[in-house]
Amino acid sequence: MKNLKVAVIPGDGIGKEVVPAAIHVLDTLCRVRGGLKFQWTWLPWSCDYYLEHGEMMPDDGLAFLKKFDAVFLGSVGDPAKVPDHLSLWGLLINIRRGFEQTLNIRPAKYLDGIASPLAHPDNFDILFVRENSEGEYSEIGGRIFRGDNEIAIQNAVFSRRAIKRAMRYAFKAAESRKGHVTSATKSNGITYTMPFWDEVFHEVAAEFPDVRADQFHIDALSAKLVMHPEFFDVIVASNLFGDILTDLGAALMGSIGIAPSANINMAGEFPSMFEPVHGSAPDIAGKNLANPIGQIWTAKMMLDHFGAFEMGKLLLDAVQHTLEKGIKTPDIGGRNTTDEVAKAIQDELSGQHEL
Ligand code: NAD
Ligand code: IPM
Ligand code: MN
Repeated sequence: MKNLKVAVIPGDGIGKEVVPAAIHVLDTLCRVRGGLKFQWTWLPWSCDYYLEHGEMMPDDGLAFLKKFDAVFLGSVGDPAKVPDHLSLWGLLINIRRGFEQTLNIRPAKYLDGIASPLAHPDNFDILFVRENSEGEYSEIGGRIFRGDNEIAIQNAVFSRRAIKRAMRYAFKAAESRKGHVTSATKSNGITYTMPFWDEVFHEVAAEFPDVRADQFHIDALSAKLVMHPEFFDVIVASNLFGDILTDLGAALMGSIGIAPSANINMAGEFPSMFEPVHGSAPDIAGKNLANPIGQIWTAKMMLDHFGAFEMGKLLLDAVQHTLEKGIKTPDIGGRNTTDEVAKAIQDELSGQHEL
């Protein structure tokens, strides 16, 4: 029996609902399949924790987390109580950076049983590779003066090392998929960092002559994603472009509530972190309405990360069967609650098919 120690951070808002739902599903999967067991350690780090302790996580939080095999996170943010830039940089981005989770991997594919907003959704299956450690999300900058003369400056940071790392990952991933990588650029308007991004893209593309490489400016790419999502295979993007494109990818699937993501520490030196694409959704939090599929699909990415591919496939199949039966939350046109969807997926896994 393989035992995996995972730190669980539900965080804020719907994270507190979808994380327990996903954990129940994972525990059922492990019970039914055997061979793997998760040992969960629940941590209260969140905006409520901040209001009590003045920090999103303890000073030695990263040292504490380091001993785990992975971090399973819900969502962070309670903007009515704590400014977003403090809560996110104090917890989510602190872990991403502290643990050198330099890549953020986010699949988006057409799923049967979920109505895409596209009138004629062809089957699409896209893997977004988002640079996760630098780019537009930098801590370099500042504000000067106050009032009418006020100026704010934020410097974007692009290193050859980080760009190359993301691009090489994208090309390697494409080799075992459809063999096509698209780079998201904006080198017509952004004159230093994006031409550099393009240069590195051409260098890396030359290392993979069997993979088709092309690039689009982010504006045209966004339009093409909506008009022809089936055109794309792997898309590599900077931190901010990747952030925006992956909410778009989620929307093309039919809801931001179903999109998964993995923050990967490439060297394996620190734990990787698994969290859905969506945020804490304050508008629906506490109502048992949140779609748990994003968190559950994220759990599949965690299983894949540990090499438990068969279990990951079973999990996604169970999600698919539940959708096909019409057991869904309201964001995808259903009438079921978070707990009912999670229970139906558990029943699917244990071979009972009644809700
Ligand atoms: P959001 O993703 O929380 O919500 C956007 C919209 O999608 C809302 O209408 C929400 O109800 C809906 N939605 C999101 N997840 C859903 C789900 N699982 N099921 C059904 N509907 C769902 O984005 P936002 O409103 O911009 O951000 C809210 C808070 O979350 C902010 O504090 C923001 O900074 C934070 N945030 C955190 C993360 C993260 O922790 N990874 C990601 C994005 C946003
Ligand atoms: C995401 C989120 C975060 C990001 C925010 C909350 C800082 O939107 O993971 O997609 O932009 O990285
Ligand atoms: Mn985002």
